[in-house]
Amino acid sequence: MREVKVSLFGFGNVGRAVARVLVEKGRLFRERYGVSLKVVSIADTSGVVWLPEGIDLRGALLIKETFGRLSSWTNDYEVYNFTPEEAVREIDADVIVDVTNDRNAHSWHLTALREGRAIVTSNKPPLAFHYAELMGEAEKRGIPYLFEATVMAGTPIIGLLRENLLGDTVERIEVVLNATTTFILSRMEMGLEFEGALRQAQKLGIAERDPSGDILGIDAGYKATILHCVAFEPITFNEVNVKGIAEITRGEVQRARAKGKTIRLIATVERGEVTVRPMEVPLGSPLAVESHENAAVIWTDLLGKMVVKGAGAGPKETVSGVVSDIMKASLKLKAG
Ligand code: HSE
Repeated sequence: MREVKVSLFGFGNVGRAVARVLVEKGRLFRERYGVSLKVVSIADTSGVVWLPEGIDLRGALLIKETFGRLSSWTNDYEVYNFTPEEAVREIDADVIVDVTNDRNAHSWHLTALREGRAIVTSNKPPLAFHYAELMGEAEKRGIPYLFEATVMAGTPIIGLLRENLLGDTVERIEVVLNATTTFILSRMEMGLEFEGALRQAQKLGIAERDPSGDILGIDAGYKATILHCVAFEPITFNEVNVKGIAEITRGEVQRARAKGKTIRLIATVERGEVTVRPMEVPLGSPLAVESHENAAVIWTDLLGKMVVKGAGAGPKETVSGVVSDIMKASLKLKAG
């Protein structure tokens, strides 16, 4: 049995869902993979709880859900005021899990890699702006840097492009990458106003904390940037053309529907060119997704056309990708 020490950064909807899965499936992971995961620290915006012997995750969930912050847990644990930079240096962990929204996380990701720690992240901006530097550092050191949950939640498009199709040349990807906009557009088709539809998406926990990034196409732009980096070559979000759905009216979506079409926020990813914009797609198209689904149509030279479709948002759905990456990193450590 290999014990793997995990440092969890972020204890919001996704971080707590990670903890719940580790509680519920820890035994299964030990049996299935011979890996025992020990969470040695958890950080939220109130502080860092750190215990080298391993944190009681049920207790952490209870404290967070009762008091809203981990720093209330002073009876059983020390709460530290580390910056993430200090935390990744000080805390002895094998795998750093970043499920925060920290836009500047790339600097402490780099520090963690230099400390020899693997990274699993669902946080998009570090990759959308610093992919080449982060991957360069990870590859130089032979350390896993895994980010399945940044694009299409747990639907395994990153794994597919990074670990399969290795003999293929990707020619083009057309993809719906943002669930909030799909949700809003489909509710508008049913007659709901934009604002009401957005509120429903927020209630379901699929919109970003600040949903303007979803509506303006920035979230989809980050994800399309990451897809370009993986399928073609590193670029940054600054090179991407983005138009969101803010100007789409209920009349437009209903007129499209009357023609047998639906408006969805589509990203087109080709070598050196990434665009995100609302487009009409036929109702029978794989891109005519509903609810919190994402879908990608990928064209390659050998395989031709393939479709990847599945949940693209939601805490549990995101954790599918995060936990899968934690297991991949752990198995690599186990293999030595
Ligand atoms: N806010 C995102 C979406 C989910 O609506 O697709 C997280 O990536």
